[in-house]
Amino acid sequence: MSAMILDGKAFAARLRGEIAGHVAKLKETHGLTPGLAVVLVGEDPASQVYVRSKGKMTVEVGMASFEHRLDVDASEVELLALIQKLNADPQVHGILVQLPLPPQMNADLVINAIDPAKDVDGFHISNVGLLGTGQKSMVPCTPLGCLMMLRDHLGDLSGMNAVVVGRSNIVGKPMAQLLLGDSCTVTIAHSRTRDLAEVCRRADILVAAVGRPQMIPGDWVKPGATVIDVGINRIDEGAGKSRLVGDVEFDSAAQVAGAITPVPGGVGPMTIACLLANTVTASCRAHGLPEPVGLTA
Ligand code: GUN
Repeated sequence: MSAMILDGKAFAARLRGEIAGHVAKLKETHGLTPGLAVVLVGEDPASQVYVRSKGKMTVEVGMASFEHRLDVDASEVELLALIQKLNADPQVHGILVQLPLPPQMNADLVINAIDPAKDVDGFHISNVGLLGTGQKSMVPCTPLGCLMMLRDHLGDLSGMNAVVVGRSNIVGKPMAQLLLGDSCTVTIAHSRTRDLAEVCRRADILVAAVGRPQMIPGDWVKPGATVIDVGINRIDEGAGKSRLVGDVEFDSAAQVAGAITPVPGGVGPMTIACLLANTVTASCRAHGLPEPVGLTA
């Protein structure tokens, strides 16, 4: 194996340490405790794990955590009423509605009901527009985490060929915007892209966010490239066992890449750390205080 392993777990732990420092200072000098509200509708097991983990880490960095649970058959009106209440609550600086939502709810409508200034997911249409036009916004957490890791490893990204495989609103599209903001030459590829292998081989920076286990083999990777694997896929190993793999075939890609994120322990831990970072940023903006450096794009 030749690639350097980009340790997202350690990076995220460092970032949470910095966030805890900022939170302590905000409390001490301004009597301000940043607060994050997480809303979970239903009992999806994976969502429950995420929500629990978010709550625990929010408290660990010294912030206030507010958890709201609605029944799986709750109405959209009920959820919208809760969002209005959280929008108006001065102790809540960030609001996250865990996705996916049950089928009776329209996710776009729900997300766009969140005050954009409290939209720590960066999914509100206003934040999408602000990011797309290079203005100050709330930036989606997973792409923000990827950008932080890329800058940390590569320094200045300008002029690099970046290929993002995947065009989701949550990762692919905002990732492409962030890379463009850092002056990369950006290609968004997807399941219909012709000769995807050739497109990937041009990438100095290859971001895989398709949600297909081990779809990108090592021979699609340019020698020395930096590979960011956003995929988290559970595959059946037989005999009742399973394991997590990314969208990249790690073993073969690690022979060729200059650096690569592992799964698990790569991008995953950065997402929650960036959610906490966004909450601190939102709380500072809400109070007209300077934003801590290094927490946003
Ligand atoms: N479900 C899976 N990932 C996410 C995320 O980043 N934000 C929200 N709100 N829900 C999710």
